[in-house]
Amino acid sequence: MKALVLSGGSGTRLRPFTHTSPKQLVPVANKPVLFYVLEAIADAGIKEVGIVVGATAGEIRAAVGDGSGFGLDVTYLPQEAPLGLAHAVLIARDFLGDDDFVMYLGDNFIIDGITPLVEQFARERPDAQILLTRVPDPTAFGVAELDAAGRIVGVEEKPARPRSDLALVGVYLFTPAVHEAVAAIEPSARGELEITHAIQWLIEKKRDVRPTTISGYWKDTGNVADMLEVNRSVLESIEPYTGGTVDADSELIGRVRLEPGAQVRDSRIVGPAIIGAGTVISGSYVGPYTSIADNCRIEDSEIEFSIVLCDSHLDGVRRVRGSLIGRNVAVTPAVRIPASNRLILGDHSKVQISS
Ligand code: TTP
Repeated sequence: MKALVLSGGSGTRLRPFTHTSPKQLVPVANKPVLFYVLEAIADAGIKEVGIVVGATAGEIRAAVGDGSGFGLDVTYLPQEAPLGLAHAVLIARDFLGDDDFVMYLGDNFIIDGITPLVEQFARERPDAQILLTRVPDPTAFGVAELDAAGRIVGVEEKPARPRSDLALVGVYLFTPAVHEAVAAIEPSARGELEITHAIQWLIEKKRDVRPTTISGYWKDTGNVADMLEVNRSVLESIEPYTGGTVDADSELIGRVRLEPGAQVRDSRIVGPAIIGAGTVISGSYVGPYTSIADNCRIEDSEIEFSIVLCDSHLDGVRRVRGSLIGRNVAVTPAVRIPASNRLILGDHSKVQISS
């Protein structure tokens, strides 16, 4: 069994972050989303992994290397443009050979891993196995319809009028039967070869496509709200650790992970929270569900329920909440009189200010 991890794509929903870095490398609890994917694959006993890469290939390669750090053997599969999930299967044909494989979208997050699923698939070997989960708004997803006995009737891509609230999760298990399907389908109206169309093709050809409904935690980290939600959920289970230093005027409450070289001075941190190596927190409040990456400075500030990427600096800013702050960012207060906000924002930035 092999794994095919999709780490190309355009990441339009996570702009401006995806202008400078792939979305699969945005950290959750200070670790890139893609690393959780690779760890889940290694835990399931799979060794050979093909990673589909696009315009951000260089950064994905720099972060993952040859995969040995994860106990994996990684092959990079360049995709000339994000032409769809089924297109990624098409270009991976030589790598996949005639092996079964798990296809895992590199920005998807499944908290309990995939080991039981992979084991069940290897035992039963249906032509394809898809994962489903109930979502409030299925129109943004591939959606499956099941009959009364729980068998699959059909799947549709982003239907305007969904036949159920069962969305396809970004993990699929396939036998080589899928290659026939991806070769047979045509691009959709948005110009992509859709994996839902390949699955529908298999269903129409009476191949054995089995659905598994998962109730465990699943998120597509394609937008900021989902990133913060996944971050919250991962921080829920971190173990407290104090690798850095905390002065006598500071207080750490609840589960706080302080990486080596981090310093906390005259501050209060209420967990769950993680503070990266070399980061200095001084005269500040860091509230629950906050991940601050390496080498940041948080001074005279208040922040909670947020993600801050490395090398950023907050000085004298209050009530920062529900925020995703990129790398090398400086956030400082405006001079008070005259009251004004001075904004230097890149293309596609989103800012909410009290005025
Ligand atoms: P999506 O989130 O569906 O697409 P996207 O990355 O283009 O993002 P957005 O909708 O915000 O523009 O992709 C799911 C995953 O699959 C993601 O990790 C990117 C990857 N992908 C590819 O590798 N190749 C592709 O052709 C597509 C469409 C996606």
